[in-house]
Amino acid sequence: MNYNNFYTESIRDPEKFWATQADTIAWYKKPETILSEDKNGYPLWYKDGELNLCYLTIDKHVEEGYGDEIALIYDSPVTQTVKKYSYSDIKTEVAKLAGGMLALGLKKNDTAIIYMPMIPQTAFAMLACARIGVTHSVVFGGFAPHELAIRIDDCKPRVIITASSGIEVDRLIAYKPLVDEAISLAEHRPKKVIVFNRKLGAKVPFKKYDVDYETLVYGSEETPCVPLPATHPLYILYTSGTTGKPKGIIRDTGGYAVALLFSMKYIYDVQPAETFWAASDMGWAVGHSYILYGPLLNRNTTVIFEGKPIKTPDASTFWRVIADHKVNTMFTAPTAIRAIKKEDPDGDFIKRYDLSCLKNQFLAGERCDNATIEWFQKHIPIPVIDHWWQTESGWPMVANSLGLEKMPVKSGSATKAVCGYDIKIFNENGEEVGTNEEGLVVIKLPLPPGNMLGIWGNEARFKASYFDKFDGYYLSGDGGYKDNDDYIFITGRVDDVINVAGHRFSTAEMEEIVSSHELIAECAVIGIHDELKGQVPFALVVTKLNATMSHFQLQQEIENLVRQQIGAVASLKNIVIVKRLPKTRSGKTLRRLLRSLCDGEEYQIPSTIDDESIIDEINSVLKEHEIGCYKIK
Ligand code: COA
Ligand code: AMP
Repeated sequence: MNYNNFYTESIRDPEKFWATQADTIAWYKKPETILSEDKNGYPLWYKDGELNLCYLTIDKHVEEGYGDEIALIYDSPVTQTVKKYSYSDIKTEVAKLAGGMLALGLKKNDTAIIYMPMIPQTAFAMLACARIGVTHSVVFGGFAPHELAIRIDDCKPRVIITASSGIEVDRLIAYKPLVDEAISLAEHRPKKVIVFNRKLGAKVPFKKYDVDYETLVYGSEETPCVPLPATHPLYILYTSGTTGKPKGIIRDTGGYAVALLFSMKYIYDVQPAETFWAASDMGWAVGHSYILYGPLLNRNTTVIFEGKPIKTPDASTFWRVIADHKVNTMFTAPTAIRAIKKEDPDGDFIKRYDLSCLKNQFLAGERCDNATIEWFQKHIPIPVIDHWWQTESGWPMVANSLGLEKMPVKSGSATKAVCGYDIKIFNENGEEVGTNEEGLVVIKLPLPPGNMLGIWGNEARFKASYFDKFDGYYLSGDGGYKDNDDYIFITGRVDDVINVAGHRFSTAEMEEIVSSHELIAECAVIGIHDELKGQVPFALVVTKLNATMSHFQLQQEIENLVRQQIGAVASLKNIVIVKRLPKTRSGKTLRRLLRSLCDGEEYQIPSTIDDESIIDEINSVLKEHEIGCYKIK
């Protein structure tokens, strides 16, 4: 198959192209309207179609005679457990859980928060919601109660589904007290909390709203999948934007199903019954699309891995999982490979395993450095495919679409636009820039199926964040350029969003938290380069006049504040105290300049700067802390 013809067709006549793709899934009611618009002129796909994603991922395969095939492998080095579930096993469990949820009073269009570790019951909870039309919102288990409370108040769940504990390497983390605390912090009160007790010894304080997961499943009748409109919100997934408040990205059902199946076939080039492993967390977009819904739609075996690339027990764990479960295609973040490379530079662990099953390694979530790709290919000589996407898109926007045509890899590029994405590079005035010229990455509307439907409860933010800057275009928030062959190079965020170990955070949110410390007068949080995590947050703080606390103590207090409010995963560990922050004459903090200073890059002094002498002042503080160009190499 030829990429160019396929891609050109998808841009020339999107309606025809996606009408053909819609035929790949089993609808209860086939859509007659392929592309329409909502009241704000934003594209809606398959408006009058009806389907159910739990049916397409589970029941359909059982009906077609594949019930005994393995749908899910749970591999947990932290509990030393491996468990396999067939499509039939999952159907029974999910249908009963969904029946139990109905009995608790949940109904179509309710919302449910799922706050769980990487265990099969997380997938079952998501599928049970999808089965009965309850919109789920999975919250990453590393978020602190305060973050969970923000999400509870925003999406107002009727139930929260959780587990007794998670395990961070060798630390048991009791989830139930965190959920109770979040509920007490929130204004909205969920009716019930369904708790899966893992019986690992964590404290599970009992509250009146608690329901035991296993008792609920055991005592419930199986319930069938309900037909849902294609535009039914399957899930809300919160992600960081440029303000302190996370945005609840809404995913539809029909467009998402078509897009995911398309991606499994034409991007990942995965055949049904093969094993596909996305080593991410269910709390991120990758988890939703490529641990759960995508692989199961395509009748693949998926892997739920409860561990880390290193330390569980060591840097061999990925290779063991691949060899043990005959993984054919793998997806992870570059950070994970960097962590392994650091522990095992000569690839000694790799040599111990037969990895001949592995065909392709996909990477995404952050920019990938060449050294990491080269190290991987030196030790495992298979294609390493960088591809670019966002929570908002739900599936890749730039990739080497292997199922269409394997294109030559160019280092630093995620290859070319995926079918349906008409990607342009604009300058600030909305004019297309020339080849090899860096600018803002935008996408001409309509975005293809699968992309977000909106921001939960905030139409104005949806419009303002993505569509107001350039009429008729989606603003991605990333910078990049195209070369003469239409290869796209993503160079990084152009806003205040940062990527820490492939996890997305808002520096604005961190600034709000740091500023809430009683001794802080003002601060700037920026993302600085980190060898392992790609980026880590770094705070420059100006203290109040009466502040007498030592740098060390202030740093610890600020780190703790961020851990308590967002979670340890935000990794804000470093601060420096400065006398002033560099600002424009109108009072805007010059964050880009700060980033360059802290990363030791060349910088240009902006003409708008209020007072140039501040640069020397900041440089001397950075020198003292051995940061930026003063870093000891
Ligand atoms: N629950 C509670 N705490 C969590 C957590 C969770 N689910 N996940 C992470 N944390 C904590 C960690 O324990 C750590 O705490 P510490 O500062 O007290 O040690 C902190 O958050 C930072 O965690 P992490 O970012 O995982 O860093 P790490 O140093 O423990 O591990 C890597 C480094 C590279 C191994 C790890 O970041 C990793 O596996 N990255 C790949 C991530 C990924 O797959 N992203 C894909 C998204 S698409
Ligand atoms: P998230 O919404 O958490 O998936 O994060 C999306 C952001 O991650 C994008 O806006 C990019 O900044 C970054 N990102 C994802 N994939 C890539 C990639 N392949 N190359 C560079 N940046 C990436």
